Amino acid sequence: MFSMGNRNIVSIAAIIASILGVFIPIPTGAQLIGVCYGMAGNNLPHPSDAVKLYQSKNLKAMRLFHPNRAVLEALKDSNIQLMLGVPNTDLRSLATSRSAAKHWVQKYVKAYSQRVSFKYIAVGDRAIPGDQARYVLPAMRNIHSALSSAGLQDRIKVSTSVATGREVLEQYSPPSSGRFSSHASTQLTPVVRFLAKNGVPLLISVFPYRRYVGDPNHIGVDYLFFNSSRTVVKDGQYSYQNLFDVIVDAVYVASEKVGGTNLTVVVSESGWPSAGGFGATKEHARAYNQNLVNHVGQGTPRRLWKSLETYVFEMFNENHKPRGTEQHFGMFYPNMQPVYPMNFN
Ligand SMILES: *[C@@H]1O[C@H](CO)[C@@H](O)[C@H](O)[C@H]1NC(C)=O
Ligand SMILES: *[C@@H]1O[C@H](CO)[C@@H](O)[C@H](O)[C@H]1NC(C)=O
Repeated sequence: MFSMGNRNIVSIAAIIASILGVFIPIPTGAQLIGVCYGMAGNNLPHPSDAVKLYQSKNLKAMRLFHPNRAVLEALKDSNIQLMLGVPNTDLRSLATSRSAAKHWVQKYVKAYSQRVSFKYIAVGDRAIPGDQARYVLPAMRNIHSALSSAGLQDRIKVSTSVATGREVLEQYSPPSSGRFSSHASTQLTPVVRFLAKNGVPLLISVFPYRRYVGDPNHIGVDYLFFNSSRTVVKDGQYSYQNLFDVIVDAVYVASEKVGGTNLTVVVSESGWPSAGGFGATKEHARAYNQNLVNHVGQGTPRRLWKSLETYVFEMFNENHKPRGTEQHFGMFYPNMQPVYPMNFN
């Protein structure tokens, strides 16, 4: 996308911006925005219609939480890049049996790989910390070698997704204080080192909404929607105007503290509910998601101008999720009408 000259201009501008502590908007390179496609509903559109909706909205990437044959079929020749999840219930068998991992890759990846653009396999979702946590890294290794056997190891990256709530990211503000919980750290440390060493991103879910709901008296509203012009958190040379950046940068710092130097991340989930509870309105959801999409190309203060690949949570409202806000993260109703307008161009 860039010529060398542009790259220099971008880095000079980034240096000036960080010296002055100001924001200079400069278009960044290829920025990938995806949307999570959760399927916990009995009234959702057929996968082929859902895929058409992705295409009509110019959405280039999808996160699917577990394999679904109808979705994989619908994705054929769509050019939509796919992050495919391995359910936590499969972690143990995939960690302990190489042939189970081979079988999984054969059945859900290799069988479609000619016509579906797999980009990541997310081995486990928020499995760390927890009962399945110790299976995550061995399952990642087995899936990786199964992909190698299938000749797909260069195309498809193997990672895992983790939350950034207190159970994982115990300390997050200011970001320089970022620290993983001791509970998560045992299993997360080797994963983070492994990913950093191999240049594969850690997948993180980032929900300022949940931090806000947990502490609304201390977290100001102007800090949530990417529209504050004032610095809310000053952290040495870094100035923060939104909570999202604080959380992401705290993950970088926490990773460095456990030996994961230069770890990269992909935001595999971030969103805001439009109904069902405190702070959940269509206007808030629209503002958060639209400004998120517009923001992530700039990176965060600690990784300025490094475009952050981000998956908005989520495509549809899901009526089989727990009652309350959980059912209202969708940008579309199950009948495919928008809950609020969004622009992904
Ligand atoms: C981290 O990245 C910097 C800048 O690209 C590089 O100089 C350094 O060697 C890297 N460190 C490791 C441990 O990979
Ligand atoms: C930022 O967006 C939120 C949500 O739409 C809104 O309530 C707030 O007034 C906005 N703040 C500024 C400074 O524009």
